[in-house]
Amino acid sequence: MKILLVLGTRPEIIKLSPIIRECERLGLDYSVLHTCQHYSYSMDKVFFENLELQEAKYKLDTGSGSHGEQTGKMLIGIEKTLKKEKPDVVLVQGDTNSTLAGALAAAKLQIKVGHVEAGLRSYDQTMPEEVNRVLADHCSDYLFAPTEQSKKNLLDEGIPEKKISVVGNTVVDAIYQNREIANQKRNTLNNLDLTAKNYFLVTVHRQENVDNKKRFSNILEGLKKVKSEFDIPVLYPVHPRSKKQMEQFGLQTNTIRLIDPVDFLSFLQLESNAKLVLTDSGGLQEETCIFGVPCVTLRDNTERPETLEVGSNILAGTDSNKILECTKMMLAKKNSWKNPFGDGNTGIRIVEELSNTYKPTRH
Ligand code: UD1
Ligand code: UDP
Repeated sequence: MKILLVLGTRPEIIKLSPIIRECERLGLDYSVLHTCQHYSYSMDKVFFENLELQEAKYKLDTGSGSHGEQTGKMLIGIEKTLKKEKPDVVLVQGDTNSTLAGALAAAKLQIKVGHVEAGLRSYDQTMPEEVNRVLADHCSDYLFAPTEQSKKNLLDEGIPEKKISVVGNTVVDAIYQNREIANQKRNTLNNLDLTAKNYFLVTVHRQENVDNKKRFSNILEGLKKVKSEFDIPVLYPVHPRSKKQMEQFGLQTNTIRLIDPVDFLSFLQLESNAKLVLTDSGGLQEETCIFGVPCVTLRDNTERPETLEVGSNILAGTDSNKILECTKMMLAKKNSWKNPFGDGNTGIRIVEELSNTYKPTRH
């Protein structure tokens, strides 16, 4: 069995790392194609270093651009590589433009596609991520759904049950594999002069929030209200998209502490020790749930409803008063929920399932 993993952004590097690790451990024939949708050191290479991953065998020169331009460039590059590499199966993860390009290029060449984190739905077609995840699911042969809910979403869309397996989310594996290493190698709170459980952590980068001046400034206003109510640091590692948009809209803040994006090991420390996290990130909704840290999601919907059900997360949208109100509500609750995203062996399960499918038949 020959596997090719396609990745391109920060969360894909992190969430595919447990699968890569397992392929390495078993000595499987696998290779990695990096679309280089993310290319800045702090969004890309730092994660390969943190997670001790080899440099990708294939690297495209995609970079930033409009959705069509970016996805089109990737399709061309991925197709060329697939023709050369001839894998039995292509694995993609999540819902980015790299995910869609990987799935589509492989499906068109009649190469089997495995979608890791299949079946998530926000049912909001205005989000580019929703378009990507729906299309990737519908051209996949192996749908690795993290939860029963995501399996149900796929069945509701007519995807045959035999293609779907509920395996958990590799984000749990990534956390379990790296949190001790983070504590041994990093001293992030000290370095940033923070005290455990005495600061808020923020990430905001989604297109629907930061490309919209009103929504982005409402969020910053909400964070200001949180800061003035609790009077503890509000730390925001700023994604490059958000940095660009803040500059373009002339948005400023002197109450929130803005820093550059941090590496995964440092981020695990920041996240696990935060009093509460405010975010529009998909991965952070999951990670906070796993760490037992309350989360306020700065969106109107979520494709991670499991976090709402267990009570680790609440949807605040972008109204500044609602952001403060939701923060107070989450802080008043007990953090005793159960992690719905699996036991940390998702990567092993996925590789095992593929290996069983591709076992050579005896004659
Ligand atoms: C992408 C994903 C999003 C995911 C996020 C993870 C899509 C449609 N969106 O959004 O779902 O949550 O990655 O972080 O695929 N930039 C840099 N350096 C980089 C990368 C980006 O400066 O390494 C800047 C550029 O100005 C670029 C902007 O960020 O135009 C947006 O990058 P892009 O890859 O288009 O989307 P993300 O916002 O990163
Ligand atoms: N992350 C990180 N450094 C940061 C911010 C986030 O390492 O400064 C990690 C975080 O732990 C999570 C992933 O990046 O694993 C989430 O990526 P992002 O929010 O960019 O994407 P999304 O999950 O929304 O697609």
